[in-house]
Amino acid sequence: MQRTLVLCKPDAVHRRLLGAIIQRLEQKGLRLVAAKLVRADRQLAERHYAVHRGKPFYESLVQFITSGPTLAMVWEGRAAVQVVRALIGPTDGVQAPPGTIRGDFALSVQNNLVHASDSPQTAEEEITLWFDPEELVAWEPCDERWTGAAAG
Ligand code: RTP
Ligand code: MG
Repeated sequence: MQRTLVLCKPDAVHRRLLGAIIQRLEQKGLRLVAAKLVRADRQLAERHYAVHRGKPFYESLVQFITSGPTLAMVWEGRAAVQVVRALIGPTDGVQAPPGTIRGDFALSVQNNLVHASDSPQTAEEEITLWFDPEELVAWEPCDERWTGAAAG
């Protein structure tokens, strides 16, 4: 089963959008396997966004991501990387279509609420960067007895 790193960036925390974002990932059928609130320091931010070093927006991006708490999560499911990217939408909130997280909640290019890994390889690297192995909690869906839908 594929895993992907999802970050609710500081703007999502400040705007109280964590519940709305998590709800969309849960409703899609993905499984949450790790979550923690982190105030990223500069070193973590620079490692996470190393691919963007030297670009005009890099310094502002690092400032933004270290400016407040980030909810770091790992989500699991079939084609999780591709699925979460599709749920989030394009980088610029103006371009992101309605129905996507950025399309519904973001107007900014930088303050676009969510990060998600862009390939399975990147996902593995990013999960290792943000989480220790013991912080990942694998679980299987319960059967219907747990929900009360069936007797027992
Ligand atoms: P992310 O990595 O955060 O999931 O977003 P992404 O793949 O859609 O976008 P990416 O090109 O990887 O850019 C990383 C983050 O940098 C900020 N950004 N600002 N001012 C700008 O032109 C600009 N371009 C990108 C955004 O926060 C973007 O999510
Ligand atoms: Mg990216």
